[in-house]
Amino acid sequence: MKRVAFLTSGGDCQALNATMRGVAKGLYAADSDIEIYGILEGYKGLIYENYRKMKPSDFSGILTQGGTILGSSRQPFKHMRKPDENGLDKVEAMKKTYRDLKLDCLVILGGNGTQKTANLLHEEGLHVIGLPKTIDNDIYGTDMTFGFQSAVDIATDCIDCIHTTAYSHGRVFIVEVMGHKVGWLTLHAGIAGGADVILLPEIPYDIDSVIRAIEKRTEEGKRFSILAVAEGAISKEDAALTKKEYKQKLKNNPYPSVSYKIGAEIEERTGQEIRITVPGHTQRGGSPCAYDRVISTRLGAAAASLILEEKYGYMVGFRGDEIVPVPLSEVAGRLKMVDPNSSIIKEAKSLGICFGD
Ligand code: F6P
Repeated sequence: MKRVAFLTSGGDCQALNATMRGVAKGLYAADSDIEIYGILEGYKGLIYENYRKMKPSDFSGILTQGGTILGSSRQPFKHMRKPDENGLDKVEAMKKTYRDLKLDCLVILGGNGTQKTANLLHEEGLHVIGLPKTIDNDIYGTDMTFGFQSAVDIATDCIDCIHTTAYSHGRVFIVEVMGHKVGWLTLHAGIAGGADVILLPEIPYDIDSVIRAIEKRTEEGKRFSILAVAEGAISKEDAALTKKEYKQKLKNNPYPSVSYKIGAEIEERTGQEIRITVPGHTQRGGSPCAYDRVISTRLGAAAASLILEEKYGYMVGFRGDEIVPVPLSEVAGRLKMVDPNSSIIKEAKSLGICFGD
């Protein structure tokens, strides 16, 4: 009989439950004696022994349910080796919970930081399987993460809605899309929503180039312009600063986010009326889209197979349409970013989409 625990950590997304359901169904189908535990609120639950035994029925009816039935929390990797306020060694505490539960495997669903801690636990000798969750699609070693496509759909719907009102009023609209370090979500939603300007963290923008693109549209008789701007979009000028200088500059910045700064510059220089829309956490909410339900189910089934084969220390990822186990040591600490010279960027540029470079 195997004993397996599930843990969801970091920012949530739409298909966490769908993925856990996939793993659980795969395990229960192969071995009816299997015991599954749910670690509550991410690594916090593993550190402070907060968990519950799950029943097969807990995994029924959750394919379409967003969020996570286990709860989540952010436990930054950089603090994992630091004792908590009571001097508790977090890594030792996590290992103790694992041992006390007599686990054969810990299944960890999460993004980049989460996979780093998963690798740490693997290096500490625990049996770990990682599953790639994030709306950002920035996990190294997999072409696709679950949550991404659902978030693309929501951000695209937002841009679609903005189109009609932007046209009516003849305004410039900025839709700020999630993604501090990478721009996959902005890129895909921007293209799907027909944005005229797409600004990504990977391609620092020149405000002159953005303004030229808007003025060109006005000269062509277009009544409105739509910009899809990533949370982490950055100007060329700011990208040239050191991290420290940039942080210092942000302290004196009057704008709540980069979109407001860009909006103010456009308004001042073009005289056009600007509106800013921030869909924010709606992008992580609601039900998973059909695509995410499919990939979550597949990833879950593949994770169950690895556990049954006792192949640990991997994150289950996609290469094209193929599922591949990727060593956690390869995933940890690396980001999958948008390549400014990639084909998708070239294609978008060839249609006239401005990337501000
Ligand atoms: O990593 C997912 C993500 O939604 C990012 O796109 C976003 O920048 C961040 O989390 C928001 O984090 P929080 O939910 O902690 O505000």
